[in-house]
Amino acid sequence: MNEQPLLIAQISDLHIKRPGELVCGRIDSAAALQRCVVELNRFVPRPDLVVISGDLVDRPSPQAYEHLARLLVPLEIAFAAIPGNHDDRDLMRAALPDPHYAQAHGALNSVRSLGDLDIILLDSVVPGAAHGTLDAGTLAWLDTTLGASSSRPALLFLHHPPFVTGIWHMDVDNLRNAGDLAAILRQHERARLIAAGHVHRATMTMFAGIPATICPAPNHAVALDLNESLPPSFKIEPPAFHLHAWFPGDGFGNVVTHWVPIGDFDGPHPFFGSDGRYL
Ligand SMILES: [Fe+2]
Repeated sequence: MNEQPLLIAQISDLHIKRPGELVCGRIDSAAALQRCVVELNRFVPRPDLVVISGDLVDRPSPQAYEHLARLLVPLEIAFAAIPGNHDDRDLMRAALPDPHYAQAHGALNSVRSLGDLDIILLDSVVPGAAHGTLDAGTLAWLDTTLGASSSRPALLFLHHPPFVTGIWHMDVDNLRNAGDLAAILRQHERARLIAAGHVHRATMTMFAGIPATICPAPNHAVALDLNESLPPSFKIEPPAFHLHAWFPGDGFGNVVTHWVPIGDFDGPHPFFGSDGRYL
């Protein structure tokens, strides 16, 4: 059997509200997260880490973060989180204390080592704004953190995508200083994946010469409007998360991202009968 990959599950844009409230008056984001936690707990093999890539709450308040923390109690896997534009750093830091945070105040950057892999979480939040920026301190921290090794592969997570998706009302609020990020990534070969959130859709492209993805959400999707035919809109599409599988191997190994739907579906059924023949 081949060597087992390291598995990093990414969930994103949870948009938890105070108990009893619905997102946009319509979406029960708490129930959606509960279904997501069930899916993560029953996934075999168990992921090594869950990364939550921002917009943990919908409107920041102590009550919303307490609700979020309670909903995460049943999660049986260690998790790490970064904020999104719907979050408040101080409230999040209080609700989800984490010894991995690189700074005592401000940006919630962190790094974790999982076996031969480094997981780097970047805080792209601009307080009070919807768009993202990596501030000077975060850029310097990233450069130093990536510079700490030349051989360990690293996966990078941040909320705001550093690329356009074609969905105009999201693209105006993506990462504004993507060029600064690209310049650092080009200095450090070991960065092997950029994994973002914010757009509530499964998306893939290349950025600064490496694969870049956006994680779908467990609740609502941003409507896939590529010609500005709609006002900013959401749609209830199949809920899902991303599972990033890192396989060791030559060089920095290889990362494969799986889209994992959340819910109960028919199957699995065997392809082959007891006689070994394809059914
Ligand atoms: Fe967002």
